[in-house]
Amino acid sequence: MVKITFIDAEGTSRTVEAEVGSTVMENAIRNGIPGIEAECGGACACATCHVYVAEEWTSVVGEPQPMEEDMLDFAFDVRSTSRLSCQIRVRPELDGLVVHTPTRQG
Ligand code: FES
Repeated sequence: MVKITFIDAEGTSRTVEAEVGSTVMENAIRNGIPGIEAECGGACACATCHVYVAEEWTSVVGEPQPMEEDMLDFAFDVRSTSRLSCQIRVRPELDGLVVHTPTRQG
């Protein structure tokens, strides 16, 4: 299992265990992480699963694909570290990943 920590806008940290092959969004929903809505269920069609990848993790996580880039335009307060969490596939190298949730979605 891979540990993922979600830190909300107030600084509250929640760590979950994720299966390799699942997505970061799926783990957020399964564990009731506040601030991730995922209205489209992971189809890269809503931008309500927006997260900020912690700086030290951005190179490991990698860059968004063009379709995700386009959808990120609809997210609130987009930054250089923004990703849609349904498009981040859990890999063993992501053990310890930290992402921040935005103050709001959409
Ligand atoms: S869940 Fe809709 S874009 Fe990620």
